[in-house]
Amino acid sequence: MTDNNHHRSTIEVMEAHVSVRRFRDEPIGHDLLETLIEAGTRDSTSSNMQACTVISITVPEHRKRVAELCSDQAQIHASAAFLAFCADMHRLELCAQMHDVTCDELGNTEAFVTALVDTALVMENVAVAAESVGLGICMIGALRNQPFEVGEALGLPRHVVPVAGLCLGWPAEVHEPKPRLPLDAVWHRERYRDDDDLKRSIDAYDGIIAAFYESQGRHVDDPRWSKVMCNLLGKVAQRADTGRFANKQGLNVQRAEG
Ligand SMILES: Cc1cc2nc3c(=O)[nH]c(=O)nc-3n(C[C@H](O)[C@H](O)[C@H](O)COP(=O)(O)O)c2cc1C
Repeated sequence: MTDNNHHRSTIEVMEAHVSVRRFRDEPIGHDLLETLIEAGTRDSTSSNMQACTVISITVPEHRKRVAELCSDQAQIHASAAFLAFCADMHRLELCAQMHDVTCDELGNTEAFVTALVDTALVMENVAVAAESVGLGICMIGALRNQPFEVGEALGLPRHVVPVAGLCLGWPAEVHEPKPRLPLDAVWHRERYRDDDDLKRSIDAYDGIIAAFYESQGRHVDDPRWSKVMCNLLGKVAQRADTGRFANKQGLNVQRAEG
């Protein structure tokens, strides 16, 4: 653990968050990794269900294969550790087996959402723990690009789906934190805010993020957040296999509940 991080409060660590994509060629000790994952799993968890599994991928050939399935992002290769976070209802299935109970309930949307929320919480907890000791992190949603192949590579049993990866490593780059939406766009009082109010906040953020990229010397064709989000709209729909794989795994997100 790095000494210069010991005095930082949790809030300071969180406020300093940036995604790091370049890492020094230095390992993360096994004990530290264990501490981070253990701390990460101390999060709140729906009904103590603990519906998250973390798979560390360290063997070079294996890492190479998994990285390829995540559009071969360079930061995965460069990271000192790569963790795959999976929504996991398999353990509940085992509980049912142990007590000779049927578990059709695992195939509904609420079970799926519960497992996703649990998994996201553990991943963010591990990320904050890692940042608190000076590690850099980058989450990898591309773990869902080819879920069938990822499921095969990681040997995921029924009722387990990949949610996102997490690159960890000692940072080889320093960035200013990327500004977020003005708080009033996110924090509403008592009732959801008017669209006109929200558009004003978005418009303000468009200016803030454009100035940020300019101050960083980063050229983006049209850096306005609202425009970048428009370009993203189609991309979200591209991961059609997310739902298909969840269905195959028995986490049937499209089944009507009655
Ligand atoms: C669930 C999730 C998936 C992400 N997937 C990727 C990814 O595949 N590749 C990548 O470079 N960054 C990825 N990111 C990082 C985001 O791009 C980044 O958090 C966002 O642009 C804000 O920048 P910042 O984290 O530096 O503040 C992901 C973040 C989240 C939360």
